[in-house]
Amino acid sequence: MRPCGVHSHGVSIVVDVRSATLASVLVRIVLLVAFVLALGACAGESPEVPLGPDGTPDPALTMGRDVYSRRCANCHGAGGGGGTGPKLSDGQVIIAYPDPADQRLLIANGRNAMPSFSGSLSSAELDAVVRYTREVLSQS
Ligand code: HEC
Repeated sequence: MRPCGVHSHGVSIVVDVRSATLASVLVRIVLLVAFVLALGACAGESPEVPLGPDGTPDPALTMGRDVYSRRCANCHGAGGGGGTGPKLSDGQVIIAYPDPADQRLLIANGRNAMPSFSGSLSSAELDAVVRYTREVLSQS
């Protein structure tokens, strides 16, 4: 599933005006607008989980990306570049937390303006978001 896979939908706006009906021109314009809107929506997305050796993304990392996008990106940035919360990308989260268990504790318990997530994320979701930030986001 690649909702942002824009590469496969090249939309041609080049129309042979003599043969094109007004309807087909309108359809092309609508498609072009949809294409541009889809590009805009993707600009603020968190990095995709790369495909594993079997050709599919690791489901735990996909869950982690989902949790990150819904619960963390608003403060740490979709790409982990930071905002209200510190930067996590560029290896920052691994420098701050060499041991993933310490990072998981921080996310579970919160600290200062960083909320606690132990009440709203399951144990599997906590594990998943820790893995996503270290294995995907931090590498971006
Ligand atoms: C309301 C804004 C907010 C949200 C939402 C949020 N954070 Fe944070 N986060 C912060 C702030 C602020 C800090 C710095 C806390 C401090 O003062 O030590 C922080 C710190 C962190 C740190 C430590 C970074 C470091 O360099 O020490 C990690 C890791 C982290 N957050 C991960 C997450 C994850 C994962 C989520 C989603 C489950 C999340 N945060 C959601 C605001 C937020």
